[in-house]
Amino acid sequence: MTVVSKLRPEDTDVVAERIARQLNDDATRRTFVNPTIDLSLLRDTIMHATNATWVAMDDEHVVGHLFAAVLSDPERRAAWTGPDGVSFDDDSILTSLLERAVHAWRAQGAIEHFVWSLDEEDRLEPWRQLGYRAISLRGVMAIPQLGDVGLDAGWTLRVARASDIERILALDHVIDVAQGDAAKFSRSHRRRNRRELLQQMDDPDVEHFVLEIDDDVVAQAITFPSPARRGSFEHTLHLSGVAVDPALQGRGIASEMLNAVLRSAHARGFEYVEAQWRVNNTRAHAFWTSYGLEPTYVRLARRLAE
Ligand SMILES: CC(C)(COP(=O)(O)OP(=O)(O)OC[C@H]1O[C@@H](n2cnc3c(N)ncnc32)[C@H](O)[C@@H]1OP(=O)(O)O)[C@@H](O)C(=O)NCCC(=O)NCCS
Repeated sequence: MTVVSKLRPEDTDVVAERIARQLNDDATRRTFVNPTIDLSLLRDTIMHATNATWVAMDDEHVVGHLFAAVLSDPERRAAWTGPDGVSFDDDSILTSLLERAVHAWRAQGAIEHFVWSLDEEDRLEPWRQLGYRAISLRGVMAIPQLGDVGLDAGWTLRVARASDIERILALDHVIDVAQGDAAKFSRSHRRRNRRELLQQMDDPDVEHFVLEIDDDVVAQAITFPSPARRGSFEHTLHLSGVAVDPALQGRGIASEMLNAVLRSAHARGFEYVEAQWRVNNTRAHAFWTSYGLEPTYVRLARRLAE
């Protein structure tokens, strides 16, 4: 019989080994998952999260674990589980773990649960069976040697300036439309977005690129170094906010812009690039996978019952 309880300090080593084994399995199935793990750091992390981690025991053996960080931000009251936050020997163990955890997450105010799972059918199916749906994908590739080819005549890639804000907001809106993010169409959201985008331009880690064709801003891409994360490689550049003026899509503009962005990132020591996109954004999916990004993890979501 499976018994679920909060993680005890003496379970730490077994849970750490389960996580390391699973990450290793992920890396044998996906080229761009990094299996390297600092076991003693992982044990420390688990030790500090005993109160937010459940373990399933069967006959004195650990057969599963589940951790989530519950965010109290009023706009994102959700429980978040990373790829290393969950393991289960069979589907019924996942059900037992969730029965206990969901209750606690709800008591802490979470209304939704997000979980990252390897993008493989056998890993996704147990979640789907429990009513979870795929929201977004993370894709990674090694930055290729792109050669020293310049942009076309009349094309300029440069860092965005405050005076570009109206064009940038228009390009951001293109992304919201593509993703069906109706919640982002409100005036108050646009006002906040404007403020955040302007602040971000002063962040030394973030580079907001715009592409001009004949002095008109027609595309953008935002980059920053990906934070250290188990499963990711060092020297990974995160790409976001990629958008092209709708009238000019399908002409190779995003590919050319990203080639220029990645050429410069590679020269600065970045070896990998990652991006995330919504599964319902079929155009973005086609673009990223044809550009070379290989999906690694899928983010799934489920609303927690009232
Ligand atoms: C996704 C997006 C950025 C792609 O930009 P784009 O400039 O249209 O992309 P490209 O033209 O470089 O590539 C798209 C397709 O055009 C093809 N293409 C490339 N050069 C071409 C050319 N000279 N003529 C015609 N087609 C061309 C590409 O091969 C690619 O086709 P494929 O995916 O079938 O291989 C753009 O569609 C967009 O802004 N979408 C809305 C915002 C969005 O969803 N952003 C992503 C958020 S994660």
